[in-house]
Amino acid sequence: MAYLLAIESSCDETAVAVFKDQYLQSSVIATQPEHEQFGGVVPELASRLHQQTIVKVTEDALLQAGITKSDLDAIAFTYGPGLLGSLLVGASFAKGIAGALSLPLIAVHHLEAHVLAHFIEPPYPEFPFVCLTVSGGHTQLIWMESPLTYTIIGNTHDDAAGEAFDKAARLLGLPYPGGAWIDKHAKLGDPLKYTFPRPMPEGLDFSFSGLKTAFLYFLKTHLKTNPDFIAQELPHICASYQNALVKILLNKLSAATSEYPTKGLALAGGVSANSQLRKEFEILCNELGLPGFTLPLAYCTDNAAMIGMAAWFKWKENQFVDLSISPDPSGNVIKTSDV
Ligand code: KG4
Ligand code: ZN
Repeated sequence: MAYLLAIESSCDETAVAVFKDQYLQSSVIATQPEHEQFGGVVPELASRLHQQTIVKVTEDALLQAGITKSDLDAIAFTYGPGLLGSLLVGASFAKGIAGALSLPLIAVHHLEAHVLAHFIEPPYPEFPFVCLTVSGGHTQLIWMESPLTYTIIGNTHDDAAGEAFDKAARLLGLPYPGGAWIDKHAKLGDPLKYTFPRPMPEGLDFSFSGLKTAFLYFLKTHLKTNPDFIAQELPHICASYQNALVKILLNKLSAATSEYPTKGLALAGGVSANSQLRKEFEILCNELGLPGFTLPLAYCTDNAAMIGMAAWFKWKENQFVDLSISPDPSGNVIKTSDV
């Protein structure tokens, strides 16, 4: 039996979770609403806020799990991808605890963790499966053969789906992060009222920059003739734009199933909280006759439970790192050593 402490600090959530073997014991998240006024995450502010909250969030996670530091068997942290300053806070904190308590250290890739969030609670997907991971910084199709064996089969050429949501929301004057706000307004709108391009690069890759630019010119054109265009049409604009994004994402996910053997499909990452994406994903899975896996909303956006889950798989394989590791904002694959 092992207790793992998992730390996530790649962007603007300070999160800590405790696992007892593969079972989640506690998961605490401190969000940083301070960024809202700036319309996006301010990296320096994010690191400072991580510094201020990480000790308290860790204490709360241990308390909720009913254990103390001396019960821990390993420390896991997100080593990338993410904002360097934010990653450094979590990594240094994890190294400090691991060093002080002479515990093994586990470095977790943030995007691997988003996918492995599917193993926190049943029902679990069966391998192999294809996961569409859509977050603020990444849009990937991943073919999962086992928890730690996977192939990235589709990637974005430019913006991530989350960025496409957030940038459009910003142009509409909605708060950051905008994806959830577009989702909310879209519920009252007509998704077919306006048409947006749906760029589809070759193969299983994505591209959202053309859609984003088209959206900017669409707004400019309408605002020229009607300065109240956004206020009057907000639900329809959100619904139509969201519809284009969802159709692009699911078109590629569907295409992946004819190229890779799969026993099921999964959605992960912050954008997988989107209600239209979840609904149409379910329809697609039914059409394809494949089981579909979505996550509870709390495990779609950044959290430490997913880091702990990934850490458990690494713990079982003795995949540890030494104290000289430094976080990598681009999230390149790390070399691990058996301890
Ligand atoms: O996975 P995540 O929490 O952080 C990263 O790893 O980037 O994803 C954050 C992204 C943001 O772009 C946010 O706007 C988007 O997830 N998001 C949504 C929704 N909730 C969060 N996008 C669309 N619809 C939502 N309901
Ligand atoms: Zn994330």
